[in-house]
Amino acid sequence: MAAADVLARIGELKRRRNAVILAHNYQVPEVQDAADFVGDSLELSRKAAGLEAEVIVFCGVHFMAETAAILSPGKTVLLPEAGAGCPMADMINGRELRAWKERFPGLPVVCYVNTSAEVKAESDICCTSSNAVGVVNSLGAGELLFVPDKNLAAYVARETGRTIHAWDGYCYVHHRFTPRDIEAARLRHPGAEVWVHPECPLDVIDLADRTLSTGKMVQEARTTPCREVVIGTEKGIIHRLSKENPAVAFHPARDTAVCVHMKMTTLEKVQRALETDTHRVTVPPAVADRARGAIRAMLEIA
Ligand code: 13P
Ligand code: SF4
Repeated sequence: MAAADVLARIGELKRRRNAVILAHNYQVPEVQDAADFVGDSLELSRKAAGLEAEVIVFCGVHFMAETAAILSPGKTVLLPEAGAGCPMADMINGRELRAWKERFPGLPVVCYVNTSAEVKAESDICCTSSNAVGVVNSLGAGELLFVPDKNLAAYVARETGRTIHAWDGYCYVHHRFTPRDIEAARLRHPGAEVWVHPECPLDVIDLADRTLSTGKMVQEARTTPCREVVIGTEKGIIHRLSKENPAVAFHPARDTAVCVHMKMTTLEKVQRALETDTHRVTVPPAVADRARGAIRAMLEIA
């Protein structure tokens, strides 16, 4: 089917099913362009919590659809590609977190939103890269546990001055950035500012001008006086940045910074999701109730 026909069919199915399409900033351009709302993890969680629609098609990875299902228990949440997981979220499970917590009795647990519902259910509060510093600052504790991203944990520990015990997880896309990538990008684009994501290692963050979540990159781009910006995150976001800010040139800090899991979703799979109700993401109510507590605690602070 031609792309225009697929888009027309998606539009028809959306109306018939009272559906909305949410897409993360890293999705392929045509999926971002077909979505009703494109955002970062925090914006998408907020959106999912307030939607009127009956069906949510989540173009992102599994934990994002799960978060939407937890926040909207009465709705049908569809993940167009069943294999679109987040390898970082899979680096810890509920059993492992329970065992780890036993070694640190009484310490609060902050979980990155990139976790399974089971891990959220074992945590006190959730955070995203947009609000991680604020969430940790909001806790009375000087010492805490943070799962699963050790890079984000190191950044937050430095920004907040708290003692953070971090799980040994990481995002394979951001963990691969090196100081050399930033130095080489500065040589290629001498007048550019460098913006990196807080999932990058600290030695990369140290060489950047700004450390921003994808949502904050989108906001900053609207008012930046810079004409050139090097972007140290998954390069899919450059589509949105360039589309919304045609006067600014955005360059990837590394051309191979691609999350293959984010790229698995296609328009054809979105169409199939709406036609066949695949792949429906559900969370057992007992787990969802506990996980919702951690997500709500975050949304109240943010
Ligand atoms: P944000 O969109 O919250 O910046 O997160 C980045 C990410 O890696 C999502 O998987
Ligand atoms: Fe997970 Fe990293 Fe891909 Fe985000 S970019 S979904 S954190 S692997």
